[in-house]
Amino acid sequence: MSDAVPVLTLDGPGGAGKGTISRLIAERLGWHLLDSGALYRLTALAALRHGVALDDAAALAELARDLDVAFLAEGETTRVLFEGDDVSREIRSEQTGDAASQVAAVPAVREALLERQRDFRKAPGLVADGRDMGTVVFPDAPLKVFLTASASERARRRYLQLQEVGMDASLSSLLKEIQARDARDMQRSVAPLKPADDAVTLDTTRLTIPEVVDRLTDLLTEHGLASAT
Ligand code: DC
Repeated sequence: MSDAVPVLTLDGPGGAGKGTISRLIAERLGWHLLDSGALYRLTALAALRHGVALDDAAALAELARDLDVAFLAEGETTRVLFEGDDVSREIRSEQTGDAASQVAAVPAVREALLERQRDFRKAPGLVADGRDMGTVVFPDAPLKVFLTASASERARRRYLQLQEVGMDASLSSLLKEIQARDARDMQRSVAPLKPADDAVTLDTTRLTIPEVVDRLTDLLTEHGLASAT
């Protein structure tokens, strides 16, 4: 599939820096960006708003299939509109994240979101951020990277992120939530969080954001996906 639109998959646990890194790499390459976690967060939000139970697989799958959503790129950020409302902030809350992790464990929801995710693959290329981008959604991607960091470092990063947007959080409860979410994401029966067999693993615990971007740029160059500048 050498003529297929190239995809860089960035998978890994929450707080490993995938969101920021994906955005920076997509900007640098001029590629499209898929924040697949946002689709699970939006499905969870739809369930909370429409009073659908988080274990009602059929109703959740229907919500996922029919999500009325728009992603609007605005400078450094992306505005997320759901049913016409700006929910950019709401979908980042810990409550929505926790509900997202529950709906993401429902096989029918994952199936319902599959084509919607693949539709993001458009020329000149796509940076796909998630948990199963390299294993399930884009198994033929020419470069797959698994970004990790220790749980305590990820909790620290999440804490700073939340503080930045003026949201309240406690470091110890964030660490507990991250560990619970990791366990759920790794143990679910469909598309569990794990590196693809052909993924390159990058531990970012002791790396700065520019260092991670540089390593990924080198990998893209080695794979013939970006020119060395
Ligand atoms: O990356 P995030 O925190 O926005 O993801 C929210 C939840 O969705 C998280 O619990 C994992 C799940 N998710 C998933 O199962 N598969 C993906 N491709 C992306 C996210």
